[in-house]
Amino acid sequence: MDYKQYIAARIPAGLPVEELAATIAVPPDPTLGDYALPCFKFAKLYRRSPALIAEDLASRYPVDEVVTEVMATGGYLNFRIDRKGLAKSTLEEIEKKQNLYGSSDMGGGKTVCIDYSSVNIAKPFHIGHLSTTVLGGALYRIYGFLGYRAVGINHLGDYGTQFGKLISAYKRWGNREEVEKGGIHAVNDLYVRFSNEATEEMEAEARENFRLIESGDEEANALFEWFKSLTLAYVEKIYERLHIRFDSYAGERFYIDKMEPVIQELKEKGLLVESQGAQVVDLEPYGMPPFIVLRSDGASLYGTRDLAAAFYRKKVYDFEKCLYVVAYQQNLHFQQLFKVIELMGEPWAKDLVHVAYGMVSLEDGAMATRKGRVVWLEDVISRCVEKAYAILAEKNPELENKEEVAETVGVGAVVFGALYNNKIKDIVFSYDKALNFDGETSVYVQYTCARANSVLERAGKFEKEGEIPELCSQEFELTKALADFPDAVLSAAKNYEPSVIARYCVDTAQKFNKFYIDCKILRAEREEVRAFRLRLTRATLTVLTNALTLLGIGVPEKM
Ligand code: ARG
Repeated sequence: MDYKQYIAARIPAGLPVEELAATIAVPPDPTLGDYALPCFKFAKLYRRSPALIAEDLASRYPVDEVVTEVMATGGYLNFRIDRKGLAKSTLEEIEKKQNLYGSSDMGGGKTVCIDYSSVNIAKPFHIGHLSTTVLGGALYRIYGFLGYRAVGINHLGDYGTQFGKLISAYKRWGNREEVEKGGIHAVNDLYVRFSNEATEEMEAEARENFRLIESGDEEANALFEWFKSLTLAYVEKIYERLHIRFDSYAGERFYIDKMEPVIQELKEKGLLVESQGAQVVDLEPYGMPPFIVLRSDGASLYGTRDLAAAFYRKKVYDFEKCLYVVAYQQNLHFQQLFKVIELMGEPWAKDLVHVAYGMVSLEDGAMATRKGRVVWLEDVISRCVEKAYAILAEKNPELENKEEVAETVGVGAVVFGALYNNKIKDIVFSYDKALNFDGETSVYVQYTCARANSVLERAGKFEKEGEIPELCSQEFELTKALADFPDAVLSAAKNYEPSVIARYCVDTAQKFNKFYIDCKILRAEREEVRAFRLRLTRATLTVLTNALTLLGIGVPEKM
């Protein structure tokens, strides 16, 4: 339950609930109350002193079984809520729903398409793909958790003149054995070499090779399919490590025969105009450059394929929303695309959402350069896992299955690093920071889970239901955090912002650790206090596990 909202709705001040809720704070000294409304900013409005306003509101506030006490102290209106009631209902719900705590069926019968990762065939899968892959993967699970049918789409970059170049390069310098062995790296090397060495004549040959793919030439298509399968085999291994899955791999090529009807419709609606030989939709009235549908040579573009894809998805999936998890560099592309669909009179244009995110770079080097110096995502993951192994071996030499734990910790650190900040921010990934046991990291959260696990293990059996004792502030803060989890999930979905859940994890882990350090759990003074604290510990483990799982991060039992 959102207590601020609940309290604000009952304050008889004649002000908007949202404004009041935003003003309510948690007092630093909990003896004053669980929540407080500072009345200073209302003094001007009511032409009275904050102290008088607080007193007046206190005398008229309707206390109930949730908000049990209201007091005015020096310009603040303080509220006390029924802590025991909160603890009882929260623990019971977590114990009942377990790994489904935080889920809902609000999305029942609705579909959300999520276009993410969307790799380019025969090109490096580099650190620039990290955010789209893990953000999209998290949104996929979050929407699924809320009862939606989530459709994960990998809109492959599998169409374009670069495949003609690749075929030329392969025929010139490549051989089957080497490429089989070197996989995507060998393919990429060929492509880079072509870019570096291509002459006028080779470019012409590449164009011809592309035309051959287009016209269904068997050899050219066999080569293309081979490059494609090498790329997919490679990325699928990474997806597995990152716990990422897709329902569709329909890429750009898939839409080649689905563009014509859409282009026809643009024509019929009078939206297509000629400009320097090209067919475009004029977007000048909307302050945007023209959206090019067909080049002067009649070739389609990235945008044309996206246009066809949007119509296809609407028809096949009848989505309530279609998300495109793509870097902010493509802001204009999506603004244009959505505008064109709106101009075509499609009411669902408003359901298309560009979920834009910032750049990821490494602390010790640039992200990608044109001439092939790229940071492969696989290398970042492997390096992080190796570092995690070294840290674990030092901290806990006795730990069994170190390798497995290091994989969970290392992969988690990479994922969490990309999800912790507001998605639009550029981030600089640092191995040391990401693997800091005391930082705002997944390792910290995982370690907290291992700690909770170890307490529970040592406790043995304990009373499941029992009298709830008076809560101290540490217990109360933790309980409140656990009660807030369903709201965090909703907010992450509503704002397309998994960072809400990542931050929730760190915040809740901090509250647990405060509770763990300040309150005796196993050696509590009374049996009912011990039982309650153990329930709270187990509930924390459940909630943190659910939260990390939504982000695609595993939880080792021991660390
Ligand atoms: N393959 C594209 C790229 O790497 C991303 C595709 C995003 N999805 C889309 N429907 N345009 O830039």
